[in-house]
Amino acid sequence: MAIYFQGLEPAETRALTRIMMESGERWTWPGDGGPVGDKHSTGGVGDKVSLILAPLCAACGVRVPMVSGRGLGHTAGTLDKLETIPGLRTDLEKEDYDRLLEEVGFAMGGQTGNFAPLDREIYALRDVTGTIESIPLITASIMSKKLAEGPDGLVLDVKWGDGAFMRERERAEELARTMIDVGESFGVPTEALLSDMESPLGRTVGHALELREAIEVLTGRDPEPRLLELTTALAERLLVLTGAAPAEDAARRAVREALEGRAAFEKLVAMVRAQEGDPAPVEDPDLLPRAPILRELRAPRAAVLAALPARRVGRLLVELGGGRRVKGQEIDRAVGLVLPRAVGDRLAAGEPWAVVHARDEAGAEHARQVLESIVVWSEDPVPPRPIITARITGSSRG
Ligand code: URA
Repeated sequence: MAIYFQGLEPAETRALTRIMMESGERWTWPGDGGPVGDKHSTGGVGDKVSLILAPLCAACGVRVPMVSGRGLGHTAGTLDKLETIPGLRTDLEKEDYDRLLEEVGFAMGGQTGNFAPLDREIYALRDVTGTIESIPLITASIMSKKLAEGPDGLVLDVKWGDGAFMRERERAEELARTMIDVGESFGVPTEALLSDMESPLGRTVGHALELREAIEVLTGRDPEPRLLELTTALAERLLVLTGAAPAEDAARRAVREALEGRAAFEKLVAMVRAQEGDPAPVEDPDLLPRAPILRELRAPRAAVLAALPARRVGRLLVELGGGRRVKGQEIDRAVGLVLPRAVGDRLAAGEPWAVVHARDEAGAEHARQVLESIVVWSEDPVPPRPIITARITGSSRG
């Protein structure tokens, strides 16, 4: 409670992170397999970046032992999206990561319970005392777990805006700087991109739909520009930070080649096989689960799509059955939304701007009412918001 109200000095935040990290297992990696890196996102709506970034970086020579979370509240979790694939094992132990990093180059699993057990205790206390929203406590919580993975470099996607954990840019920037300071004090090159989370990221919200979109980016099928820009920028920075690429232009080339030559997609397929999942729906996304009811929403008049607040969209996914109200709840991975048009696009009258994927008619009707009540139309042009609003580096880097 005192930390929540008073904050911490940088040295205190580092010390707290160390104590939390040292409360559990810490991973090390054999030095001959290439650098190890990871990404952390503070979470958002439609955020499927990890599903693309991990195989992409693996294809470029970075080993990625990604430990992800499940969805709770208005943001969905990477692990839940991955588990749309039948049979895929995500209960990975260190021996599994060792084997997968050697065979495939990356692995994606859940918290095994061995990282920073002290964080779990403290987080539970924060949850019931209303002290989650504290920058030093968030920093120690996230960084103790990420640093325990033993990375050579770390990129942070710190989101701000309506659908983000931090709504204000200034707070997001302060969180980014605090996390970078801790990462670098542990000798791990760490950088952050501040990214926009005013509206959902990409064209889909919902587990199977987001997995499909990630596969489409990896197979070069008309990727949504903002999603592609953010994912490739994070991947490029991770290549540079870990030393897998000597400089930005080499990283950019490597990332482009891994996408265009499909090496990144092949990595995803290899990981699914190695984690005992069925590769068929990855190779043919039409096999992914589909919701039975589709409802198209159309522009009421010729107008510009001016806003679609992300937080309410995230809550709508929960209401459709695609998110958890309480920990451990079953979720419907097929439901969600397809959003073919982006904020700033001009639509003709009657043009589709959203397709609801619902389990039943009542869900589809509820989604229609919610979406039509929150979407904002404008007669005047609306400039698209840049997806990356800043790159933040440590004081020792430029
Ligand atoms: N995610 C975490 O792991 N910890 C926090 O404190 C906040 C988000």
